[in-house]
Amino acid sequence: RSEKIWLALSFGMIMGFMIFTGYQTFALEMGPPSAKETIDPQKVDETAPFDKPGVKQVGENEYEVVMTLQAFSFNPAKIEVPAGAKVTFILTSKDVVHGFEVAETNINAMVVPGHIQRITQVFEKTGDYLVLCNEYCGAGHQMMATTITVK
Ligand code: CUA
Repeated sequence: RSEKIWLALSFGMIMGFMIFTGYQTFALEMGPPSAKETIDPQKVDETAPFDKPGVKQVGENEYEVVMTLQAFSFNPAKIEVPAGAKVTFILTSKDVVHGFEVAETNINAMVVPGHIQRITQVFEKTGDYLVLCNEYCGAGHQMMATTITVK
């Protein structure tokens, strides 16, 4: 009888691992950017949409935020979007791997040079949201932060 218990236990463990692995894969989808959208990291400033970083209204209640990241800043530094709007961040790095983490949200993504990262978010609450780089990117890493103002 104890064999059955062990069998059930090990089966449960395997299931657990599988769920965990599945979850990790799912969670990582926000990490590695899709290989589809690539960009020459040397020519970010000349390549649309990164030639015009900033907030752009693209629909009735839809906005795009085009940002470039580089050691140790986010460009543009000031971002303002309305509460309840669908906001798509379009991000790339001009140098090394940076992170894009927005406090009080689930946004936590890697921004890799040569790739374009897109993240869509609706900010329901007004206020200032702290944006942090969460990938070690050099001596100024811990100073690399900005805010998103939701009005
Ligand atoms: Cu950019 Cu750490």
